[in-house]
Parts: sequence; structure tokens; C-alpha cells
Amino acid sequence: MFYSEIIGIGGYVPERTVTNEELENIVETSDQWITTRTGIKERRISTGEKTSQIALKAAQHAIERANIKANEIDLIILATTTPDFFTPSTASLIQAELGLQDIPSFDISAGCTGFIYGLQIADKFIKSGQSKCVLIIGAEVLSKVLDWNDRNTCVLFGDGAGAAILRKSKKEGIVSTYTGSQGDLKGFLTIPAISVKNPFLKGQLDTNNHHRIFMNGKEIFKFATHIMLKSIETLLAENKLEISDIDYIVPHQANYRIIDNVAKKLKVSGDIFYKNMDHFGNTSAASIPLALDEMIQKKMINSGSRIIMVGFGGGLTWGAILLNWTM
Ligand code: ACO
Repeated sequence: MFYSEIIGIGGYVPERTVTNEELENIVETSDQWITTRTGIKERRISTGEKTSQIALKAAQHAIERANIKANEIDLIILATTTPDFFTPSTASLIQAELGLQDIPSFDISAGCTGFIYGLQIADKFIKSGQSKCVLIIGAEVLSKVLDWNDRNTCVLFGDGAGAAILRKSKKEGIVSTYTGSQGDLKGFLTIPAISVKNPFLKGQLDTNNHHRIFMNGKEIFKFATHIMLKSIETLLAENKLEISDIDYIVPHQANYRIIDNVAKKLKVSGDIFYKNMDHFGNTSAASIPLALDEMIQKKMINSGSRIIMVGFGGGLTWGAILLNWTM
């Protein structure tokens, strides 16, 4: 019997910090509103770096931490909603940059749940015997799809990338995974792509605000609270565990109030949920690996720690992973 374990985590964020005070000059908002409603004080914003470039830096960091040679990687999965191109995939760009020969690489689109989906797929590739060492990346340059005139959204997001190396192992690292989606709720969070426009077009042109985020914050808030709770409880029940058996929950970093609501419903202290949205904002698919990267740097998690990662995002999608930290 073999399992999969995380052997390296890496993170990278652009250098430029944008504070709430700076946003007061761009839209009608205030540091006080943003901080009290979301917990966000500042975020990193790309001043030209592309998704593939920040993804590569996070990947190199994870490879270094895992203490492996890049050519040990036999699969790359990259989660993003902000790729450089429709095609080639951003994962393929990373494969070329790392100088890896002929290995499979692909992008997945699961919004902010992308890293969880990616880790679940990687775990299955390893457990099926198809792969031995997988690079999973969550990378976003959300600043390029934000409507910088829309105060409802532009204050919430940031740019960044996080990566993990998952390797075949005798140790049980990843214990259990749970994912889901509900496409009928798609309207609550969208980034429209290209509409049909060709010489054979019938009817009206689609006038969607293409390539810009639209979000119904109130509906997402309700959904997120419900689905994070359900995801955590599902994993606990499936594995016959109590919440007291868990050392840390690493949630998607959208809003501290969502996390505090979930903690209240679970009747646990908010302290078991790691939070770093105050300095990175919501970095979508990058938020969970970036949080893990910080937790490792702070030596918060050690070999033997039992962790649940949990996320929600565009789709709408959701997912959670129970794992034993083995590093
Ligand atoms: N600055 C000042 N005022 C603002 C701002 C802003 N940046 N944004 C909105 N407002 C105003 C609104 O216009 C509204 O004004 P009105 O009452 O005059 O109409 C007022 O503040 C209250 O707005 P609400 O929407 O009621 O504020 P709410 O308390 O719901 O907080 C928020 C809004 C922070 C967006 C919250 O709903 C939320 O966090 N939702 C979840 C968002 C989320 O998780 N997004 C990510 C989802 S998935 C992914 O990660 C990609």
C-alpha cells in the first residue's frame, strides 16, 4: 500500500504592496470599511509579472524546499482563473521553464478551490500508480481581471502564487479528499470570457463586461459559510474524527468574518483557522498554499500535525482535504 505526502511548499508574491489607504485614491472606500468588513489591510499587486512568471517562482521555491531535482517531477497541475493564454496552458509554460521533458501538464479551472482540486487530482494520479512526484501550483494575477472602478470587488483581491510537491510515499500524508460544485450558482461569481462573434452571427451582440470579475458578495458570503462548514464536517465524519483531533484548519482567505462564522458553528476558537488575508487579500487559487508556506516559516506545523485545508470559489466549487503533515 502506498500513499502521497507533501514534501515541499513554496510561495511567491509580487513585490508591490498596495494598502487600503492607496485604494481610497482609486475608488470611494476607506481603510476602516475594508478592514472591518473583510480583515484585509493590504495586498500584493503585479506591476507587470505574468501568472506564469509568479507561478514559476513559487514552483522553484517548492522544489528547493522539497530538496528534489526538478527532473524528478512527472506531472504538473496548475490551478488558475487568470492564465497567460487560453492555450498553451500555464502549466505547459512552467514545464518548459523548468526544462522538463515530455511530462504531462495541464491547467484546471475551479476558481479559489483550484489548489484543493489540484491536490486531489495529484493524489489520485499517485495512488493509481500513474505518477510518483507531482508539482501542483495555484497562481493568480487577479489584478488584470479586476474592475478598478468597482469598489465591491477591487478592494478584495491580490496577486500571488503557491506550490506544493506531492510524492508517492509509505507515509499517509493525504488521508481524505472531498470536492463538489454547483453550476446553477455560477451567476454569483463570474469572469466572462469571449462571446460568439463571427460573420454568421444571428441576433444581438453580447455586451457582457468581458474579462472583469462580477461578484454578488452577500450570496457568496452565505454560501461560503455553509459550504466550508459542510466540507469540514464531511471529512470529520468520513474519518471518524472530532474537530478537537485537528491541529489547524487552513481555509481559503476571502474574509475573516466567513471564517469566524464557521468557527462559531463548529464551536471552536477561531485560532485553529490560519488567517493571512490582512497582508495578501484574497489570492484565489494561491491562497491556501501561500498560507501553508507562511505556517511552515513560522514553524506552526510539524511532522504529525493533522490539518484540514478547505476552500470555496467560482463555479461555484468547494473542497477540503484532510492530511497528516509529514515534513
Ligand atoms: N468601500 C466602502 N463601501 C463599500 C465598499 C467598499 N469597498 N464595497 C461595498 N460598499 C458599500 C456597498 O455599496 C453598500 O452600500 P449601500 O448600503 O449604500 O448599498 C454597503 O457598503 C454594504 O455593502 P454590503 O454588500 O452589505 O457589505 P457586506 O457586509 O456584505 O460586505 C463583502 C461585503 C465584504 C463583499 C462581503 O459580502 C463578503 O465578504 N462576501 C464574500 C466575498 C468573497 O468571499 N468573495 C470571494 C469569493 S470566491 C473567491 O474567492 C474568488
